[in-house]
Amino acid sequence: MTIAPTSTFPLQFELTPSQDARAEAEREVILADPGFGKHFTDHMVQIDWTVTEGWHNASVIPYGPLQLDPAAAVLHYAQEIFEGLKAYRHADGSIWTFRPEKNAERLQNSARRLALPELATEDFVESLRQLIAVDGAWVPDAPETSLYIRPFMIANESFLGVRPSQKVGYYVIASPAGAYFTGGVAPVSIWLSTEYSRAGRGGTGAAKCGGNYASSLLPQQEAYEHGCAQVLFLDAETGQHVDELGGMNVFFVHRGGRIVTPRLSGTILEGITRDSIIQLAHDRALTVEERDVTIEEWRDGVESGEITEVFACGTAAVITPISALKSPEGTIGDENAPAGEVTLSIREELTDIQYGRRPDRHGWLTRLDA
Ligand SMILES: Cc1ncc(COP(=O)(O)O)c(C=O)c1O
Repeated sequence: MTIAPTSTFPLQFELTPSQDARAEAEREVILADPGFGKHFTDHMVQIDWTVTEGWHNASVIPYGPLQLDPAAAVLHYAQEIFEGLKAYRHADGSIWTFRPEKNAERLQNSARRLALPELATEDFVESLRQLIAVDGAWVPDAPETSLYIRPFMIANESFLGVRPSQKVGYYVIASPAGAYFTGGVAPVSIWLSTEYSRAGRGGTGAAKCGGNYASSLLPQQEAYEHGCAQVLFLDAETGQHVDELGGMNVFFVHRGGRIVTPRLSGTILEGITRDSIIQLAHDRALTVEERDVTIEEWRDGVESGEITEVFACGTAAVITPISALKSPEGTIGDENAPAGEVTLSIREELTDIQYGRRPDRHGWLTRLDA
């Protein structure tokens, strides 16, 4: 089967306004304390795809349940991919997002791996603009708050044969997000999963597909039971190298400011925050190494003082300091250690760019409300 006529012209969106859109007062109550992933805006984007028609029927419709046939392929074989990015309100009220073309590219890469059709970058970015055009009032303005945008694609052909779906739906939903850290950036402890792997060679580790997260839930639960915020996975092949956390990439700061992060081995997600941090480190003339990092290097480095800071990064929390790595074999680091200087300063620079408080010298921001 040939996959995917990618749309060759910009899609035209049709709007069906919601009759149940929340009143301003109700929205303001939600925006005052949105939490994360609990509340959703009044509309969503839907674009249909079939093998014969390609992408079509681009629309913005009232937010609501999807109608899926019980035989829809996604429900059985998990042919699904997604993205995550944020809309930020700047001081002048304008609404921006951060490197959306990178999310579009990653969604295309994920689509190829999951035998789903690719959506053109232009159509992806337009789908965000279209949602913001109708639900822009849902972007909060309190410090460090944002509107989390979740584009996703599902196989919705009703067919139980195991082959790529000939019918697909792309959707975008959005959810206001509160400040991740209130009262200062707090370091977290991480649990090292020695039993479970996240991804293997030739698998789907570099794709953002739901199945990767389904298999991380049990080890994640183990992490919670040990008082840890997230789980760290090692590479499945040798069980020696640091891959990434369940939902974030990892960085090490060495003495003198050298920055080290696991290389893109094909089993980890190519984080957009990761890529941005590498650029900001280069801008500061810091040495950046993308290479294998063993648990032994982590342990020895922390003990000798060679590794001075460890942090995790991703769209949701931006940068989270890691104070300690716990495992059945013991703890590396000090759970009560404060956040490091380099960690905090890169975090501040990145969030300043995202919220328009510093010049966007790399052209990373895209305005969504104009
Ligand atoms: C497994 C995994 N690694 C890394 C990241 C960080 O990626 P990004 O910086 O693009 O949010 C995420 C979050 O999307 C993730 O789910």
